[in-house]
Amino acid sequence: MEKGIRIAIDGPAAAGKSTIAKLAAETLGYTYIDTGAMYRAITYKAIRENINIGQAEDLAELLNRTEIRLVPSLSGQAVLLDGEDVSEDIRTREVTSSVSEVASHRQVREAMVERQQEMVKNGSVVMDGRDIGTQVIPDAELKIFMSASVEERAKRRQLENEKRGIPSSIEVLQQEIELRDKMDSEREVSPLKKAEDAIYIDTTRMTIEQAAGEIIRLARERIERA
Ligand code: CDP
Ligand code: CDP
Repeated sequence: MEKGIRIAIDGPAAAGKSTIAKLAAETLGYTYIDTGAMYRAITYKAIRENINIGQAEDLAELLNRTEIRLVPSLSGQAVLLDGEDVSEDIRTREVTSSVSEVASHRQVREAMVERQQEMVKNGSVVMDGRDIGTQVIPDAELKIFMSASVEERAKRRQLENEKRGIPSSIEVLQQEIELRDKMDSEREVSPLKKAEDAIYIDTTRMTIEQAAGEIIRLARERIERA
């Protein structure tokens, strides 16, 4: 079989990246890789082991003795941390509020990028995150920068929490999203930013199917060209 293309999707929190990337990957028969889950998994382990997340060396040492695997599951993708399924544990508010600091350290990013580059080398992948088009796959055949208004993103997260039975305030969610976007965009090492050659998709008024459909259309154009 021919090697498929590599699709990089970046953008701020709750823009719809993982949901849309997953659907596009499924339709194309590609592998979906959620790099945010990798940063969340190491953050979760650091909290559990009482590691100081301000210490880059301690985190790098922790990463050295940590295996993170993303495997297909009924819900799309399960995250295995040293063999343990932590898919739910990595989505808590505690992890969410610490992950941007963990992800700001150069040593952490270098180790993660190396692992991620290994994961995409066979092509046929949709990978989402913050630095995929700029650092992880700078020569990706298709790059997307996905965003939506912060109000809409907070609303979507609130709905998601509601479905899980977690009541939450839209104002607080919006503040949390804005803070994380600020930290991710202003960090020194590979900040969140649109790659020059990325195609901008604003999902504020788009359904999941519409946005995935647009990515699939762009992907097919490139697959034909390849
Ligand atoms: O899904 P959500 O928008 O909540 O975030 P995520 O994709 O799970 O990513 C969690 C955090 O990991 C981000 O806020 C970034 O701090 C970090 N991250 C990163 O620095 N680089 C990536 N390629 C992916 C995530
Ligand atoms: O991965 P990222 O943080 O960018 O976003 P996500 O977790 O895929 O999406 C956040 C929430 O918005 C999910 O509950 C999606 O189902 C929802 N969503 C939506 O309602 N409409 C869209 N066009 C995109 C996402």
